[in-house]
Parts: sequence; structure tokens; C-alpha cells
Amino acid sequence: MLEDDLEMRRSVYALNDSLPISDDKLTELVEKCLLNCPTAFNSQSARLVILLGDKHKAYWQMVAEGLAKAAAPEKRDAALARLEQFAKAYGTIVFYEDTDVAEAMVEKYADYAKAMENWMQQSNAILEYMIWQCLAENKVGASLQHYGNLAEAAVKKSFELPSRWQWVAEMPFGEIAAPAGEKTFEPVEKRLKVLR
Ligand SMILES: Cc1cc2nc3c(=O)[nH]c(=O)nc-3n(C[C@H](O)[C@H](O)[C@H](O)COP(=O)(O)O)c2cc1C
Repeated sequence: MLEDDLEMRRSVYALNDSLPISDDKLTELVEKCLLNCPTAFNSQSARLVILLGDKHKAYWQMVAEGLAKAAAPEKRDAALARLEQFAKAYGTIVFYEDTDVAEAMVEKYADYAKAMENWMQQSNAILEYMIWQCLAENKVGASLQHYGNLAEAAVKKSFELPSRWQWVAEMPFGEIAAPAGEKTFEPVEKRLKVLR
């Protein structure tokens, strides 16, 4: 990855139900990210599910059902319309943390027990970023979403996922139908100090 490639990764919402790379290539790059992502004490607690085809559609249907129940009536239609764009994508990667691993790490490294949960979330976020960047470099559009809590139990039951996996985020992805919107930047001088 070159520094210029960093600008390729954006939140892309308008996605088509197709991919410029094969499913095998997609799986291979997600595997590489999973294997090479740094984790606190090398705990490797992240778990991923790649949803394609009907499974991807079923995921967003379950989320829509959860959202329909949870949303305030006056906000429901707009919220459900927003979800439709994700269902139109090619697939979704769902990010989880294995709470069995978290508990084992807390037991093993008791001095760091308070920090462990935070570190695991940080590591999961690094993994999200690695995958997002790799997708961008392969001209696959994606965004990071947080709706899965609305359907966590239904999704786990439907896809027979371990009950101890805790949902963290999901990333719908697909061919880029329209580029990301304009992005504004805070002045870097306000955000970075170089001290000598
Ligand atoms: C921790 C985190 C959580 C985010 N959650 C969401 C989200 O739930 N929905 C969404 O549309 N974008 C989400 N984003 C994307 C940000 O809105 C986006 O990265 C930011 O506006 C900058 O735009 P860019 O991704 O195109 O660079 C999230 C980003 C981060 C890092």
C-alpha cells in the first residue's frame, strides 16, 4: 500500500449488485486481512462472516424487520429507505468479537482486564479498516454500518452462528455505482503536532 492509495478508500453508498473481482479473490483478501491484523496479546478474537447472494439479502431483510420495530413512527420510512441501498449491494461483511476469547484473555492477563475490551474493539476497527482499504484498492466500493444490533439474535439463529460471537459492525460492498460525496477536512495543523 502506497500513501497515495489512502485517498482511494471512501464511504461509498451507491453500490451495484456486482463485483470487479471474483468471490475467491474477495475471500482471499479478507483472509489476508484477518491473518495480518494486529491484536492485543495476539488474541485474534475477531470473527467475520462474508454474506453473498441470498444470505446478503436475508441479512438486510432481518435488519429492516428489526428497524421497523425499533424506529420512531415518524422516522421509520426514511430509515427503511436508507437500508434499501445496502440491500442493493453485492454482499456484506459482518464483524464480530468472540467473547470466549475475550474472557480467556481477561483471565490470563488480569492486570489488563479493564483495557482488554477496549483493545479488542480497537483491533476489530483496525481489521475493518484493512478490509475497507483492500476493497478500495480492488475498486470495490464499501461503507461501514452499525445496524446489526437490531437483528443480532435473528441473524445468529438464521445463519447458525455461535451465540458467543458479539456483533460489532457490518460493511456492505459492491461495484461503485456513484462515487463518494465531497469530504471536508479539519486543518491538519489543529490535529497534528510534530515535536523536536
Ligand atoms: C468507527 C466508525 C463508525 C462509523 N459508523 C458509520 C455508520 O454507522 N454509518 C455510516 O454511514 N458511516 C459510518 N462511518 C463512516 C464515516 O461517516 C466516514 O468514514 C466519514 O464521514 C469520512 O468519510 P470517508 O469514509 O469517505 O473518508 C463510520 C466510521 C467510523 C470510523
